[in-house]
Amino acid sequence: MIVTVEGDVSDQQAHELAERLGVELIAEPICSSDSVRLRYRDGVLQAITVDQSGAEMTVSADYVEYASVQRRRQAQGELLIKAVQGRHRGTLTILDATMGMAADTMLMATMGHKVVALEKSGWLFELVNDGLQRAASSGLTDLPELVCAEAVAWLNQHSDRRFDVVYLDPMFAETGKRALPKKNMQLLRQMAELESSGEELLAVAKSRARLRVVVKRPIKGGWLAGSPNYSIKGQRVRFDIYSVS
Ligand SMILES: C[S@@+](CC[C@H](N)C(=O)[O-])C[C@H]1O[C@@H](n2cnc3c(N)ncnc32)[C@H](O)[C@@H]1O
Repeated sequence: MIVTVEGDVSDQQAHELAERLGVELIAEPICSSDSVRLRYRDGVLQAITVDQSGAEMTVSADYVEYASVQRRRQAQGELLIKAVQGRHRGTLTILDATMGMAADTMLMATMGHKVVALEKSGWLFELVNDGLQRAASSGLTDLPELVCAEAVAWLNQHSDRRFDVVYLDPMFAETGKRALPKKNMQLLRQMAELESSGEELLAVAKSRARLRVVVKRPIKGGWLAGSPNYSIKGQRVRFDIYSVS
């Protein structure tokens, strides 16, 4: 995946982003299916890539809707929340070890849980961080803490960190059965493969969770590794729960 930042050297925000990511700052945009181009438009960081049909798609992170009371009510009914909370009613500390575009991270944070989210891709981290900063400026509270890091390496470096729940949503395998997926998911599918094996990720997650590890899988997908204690099934996804205590 080739990542570039669009802008010229006088554009300080673009220049700083390119430096943080260690990628080229280019004035003339290149866009192909194996590249992602980042640019600021009206103060919003956008990622532009090309989908399977050759059409350009633009993605940015917007979390402002998460502030609404209605969103909080909806979140309560989500299977993810049921899987993560179990019968627990208070605030949980949660590690979302595979953040992606942070939809799940934000759902968990919306319910008042203290969430730390890890993402190994630098540009994806920047995209989410940009959305989170705009949400914070518009008064949104209960925000997650974001870290740009590979999960197994980060957990090994922070051997003292423990969380009530560790949540894992590694990349879904392509089934080829559905039409084009939603654009955020399509973008995530263009990400690099898992760097750690499922076994390694689950083992380290279990060693740091006080209550449980929750793994999101496609409804017909296999287990990430080893059999869970139980699963909560939706129409398209399943949450496998590995109890720790
Ligand atoms: C399917 S997406 C997660 C989607 C996310 N749950 C959401 O709601 O947007 C998987 C993400 O995990 C990241 N990832 C995969 N393995 C990782 C690892 N070992 N450490 C950190 N991030 C990882 C990928 O880069 C990708 O962005």
